[in-house]
Amino acid sequence: MTAQATHPAPRAGPRASRVAEFAGKTLWRNPLELMLESTGEGIYGIDLNGCCVFINRAGAALLGYRVDQVLGHNMHDLIHHTRQDGSPYPAACCPIYTAFREGRPCRIDSEVLWRADGTGVPVEYSSYPILDGTQIAGAVVTFVDISARKQHEAQLRQAHDALEGRVAERTRELSDALGELARSNERLRRLSAHLETVRERERSRIAREIHDELGSVLVALKLDLGWLHEQMPVGSAVQAKTRSMAGLIDDAVTEVGRIITDLRPSILDHQGLWAALDWHAQEFLEATGLRGELRIEVGAGAPAPDDAVATAAYRIFQEILNNVARHANATAIDIRVSADADELRLRVRDNGHGVTLEQLRHPGSHGVIGMSERARHFGGRLAIGPAATGGTQVRVWLPLTATAGRRIPEEDADDPACAV
Ligand SMILES: Nc1ncnc2c1ncn2[C@@H]1O[C@H](COP(=O)(O)OP(=O)(O)OP(=O)(O)O)[C@@H](O)[C@H]1O
Ligand SMILES: [Mg+2]
Repeated sequence: MTAQATHPAPRAGPRASRVAEFAGKTLWRNPLELMLESTGEGIYGIDLNGCCVFINRAGAALLGYRVDQVLGHNMHDLIHHTRQDGSPYPAACCPIYTAFREGRPCRIDSEVLWRADGTGVPVEYSSYPILDGTQIAGAVVTFVDISARKQHEAQLRQAHDALEGRVAERTRELSDALGELARSNERLRRLSAHLETVRERERSRIAREIHDELGSVLVALKLDLGWLHEQMPVGSAVQAKTRSMAGLIDDAVTEVGRIITDLRPSILDHQGLWAALDWHAQEFLEATGLRGELRIEVGAGAPAPDDAVATAAYRIFQEILNNVARHANATAIDIRVSADADELRLRVRDNGHGVTLEQLRHPGSHGVIGMSERARHFGGRLAIGPAATGGTQVRVWLPLTATAGRRIPEEDADDPACAV
């Protein structure tokens, strides 16, 4: 007699009895089939030939078929034969088939399936191999209609493209406007440089005329007065009058000389820039009574600046010193001028109350802008701001040769001055 092992039947718990209770009803007679039929997604299975072995009602309806019209048919030939662009879709390239041919699942959302009425429906589908033990028996494909999603994507793309278009258009408009602004700035700059040249020429002409015409008249007057003086009885009132008149003529000669020098210092034309800067600085110190340090170092290789650069440098220097006299309330000034083969450097520091950015940007302040523009016109640069030691510092770089402009520093880390 063989002993038979008996196992006590497992006692049905409350959950097991509930499942048994539902299973007894028609509703759960075939749970798998029920699940397939109840889902909104399309699901179908294919065998190794690609023929449909099952399809749920939602899937068939999505494709415009009845279930029985699909079963047994080659699904690629029926619903996946053509690409969205109308070109043929060979079964050999079909990713659904690779699921069971190579055992590789796939998820695709860029293709269409074709309905019974010939219309294409954009879908997202996935295909997974069906395994029977270790053997691949086919594939199960799930798919959903993503027309709405695609439509939204298309609308989004359209809106995005429209936005990109507008941004590109605006950018073009802006760069056109910036280009126009840059051109008109350049034109203004050239006009301003031209006006400076014209003004300088006119000053020279007026200075020459005053010197030649008025100067010679005054000299002739003085000579005639001298002759008259000799004709008068010594000690007479008329002779005294001619003496005082001669004094007035001397004053007029001095005044005319001052006006001529203000218009165009002849030292600039006759002795050059370095002498003119030296002379002007000395005159300035004398006139203002400021304590001053003046150092002019011109290297042996420094070329003599041409007339236009020399005039610009001189006028800039004049304006810097004018500003010190008018605004700084300083007691001392330090002036350095140096030049080498490439460039001219100018640094003026005062010990006054300093300068602020607001003051420099004041609409009525034309002096600093004028100096800066003059320097830029010749490829140079001007920086003005508070000096590290207090007061104001102005620095100017001016190229003396055509290539030197490229070396002019844009920024100077030790220099607290702001470029203007
Ligand atoms: N060395 C300085 N010390 C103090 N403040 C200065 C100095 N240089 C310039 N400033 C300030 O910078 C401002 C701008 O100078 P800028 O030469 O441009 O104009 P301005 O001298 O007032 O008028 P102008 O157009 O007649 O030259 C001045 O008004 C002054 O407030
Ligand atoms: Mg000024």
